[in-house]
Amino acid sequence: MSKMKLGVNIDHVAVLRQARRVNDPDILQALYVACANGADQITIHLREDRRHIQDSDAKNIMHHSSVPVNLECSINRAILNIVCDLKPHRATLVPEKREEVTTEGGLDVFTYEDEIAYAIEQLHDSLIPVSLFVDPSLEAMKKSKELGAEMVELHTGTYANLFAMLHSSLPYSSDSIKELELPRYELASRLEKSLEELQKAAKYAKSLGLEVAAGHGLNYHNIASMLDIQEITELNIGQSIIARSVFSGLAEAVREMKKMTTR
Ligand code: PXP
Repeated sequence: MSKMKLGVNIDHVAVLRQARRVNDPDILQALYVACANGADQITIHLREDRRHIQDSDAKNIMHHSSVPVNLECSINRAILNIVCDLKPHRATLVPEKREEVTTEGGLDVFTYEDEIAYAIEQLHDSLIPVSLFVDPSLEAMKKSKELGAEMVELHTGTYANLFAMLHSSLPYSSDSIKELELPRYELASRLEKSLEELQKAAKYAKSLGLEVAAGHGLNYHNIASMLDIQEITELNIGQSIIARSVFSGLAEAVREMKKMTTR
């Protein structure tokens, strides 16, 4: 049986903390709980705008994690210098736009070829293996290999969006994805195509000698198809795990406070 590695992205714990700027919830507690319950890796994203993970979080997580840390970052030089100092077990290069809610789309390995090559060289000089977060196209796999990355993380956002529009109440909510408001047969056909793209990209990447991860928008409903892609050996998942933890923990949290406020 092949063992799929689970990278738990704990950025959203920091999102909640930053909403109040108090040390609650404590990111290190999130790290310990994730590690104690099966996380094979911790993934964090040190964004240029520091909207969630702070430099001190990254440092503390590096010092205290009992599993490898996968640090996501942009190709911004100042950020890369910090990453080189932190020496994570791996750096994953991702695109970053200030106005986006979360990482949208994979890294453009064609337009930013030189900048990415430079970033990879800098990280390699610090002995940090590099993964590139890319859209699942054969061209992107080839280019990632040429640029010298050890790994690719396939962007599963398109697959996840199509899945949600087809199989959840998303189209009936205010968060409906306008460009995907399509007939169900069309969504089904696009979903199948997106899955095929992921399968082909994973196969090709592996044949090139790249390690293959996948992530973005994966959740308890859409994960099954990812497990069938043999070449994918690691999944990085954040939002859905932290979102679910609210409801696996809310009942107990309310009971505890009720008990304390009842004399
Ligand atoms: N992988 C990468 C490269 C990401 O940028 C993100 C989002 O930070 C994830 C995985 C996790 O995505 P999600 O929070 O949607 O599970």
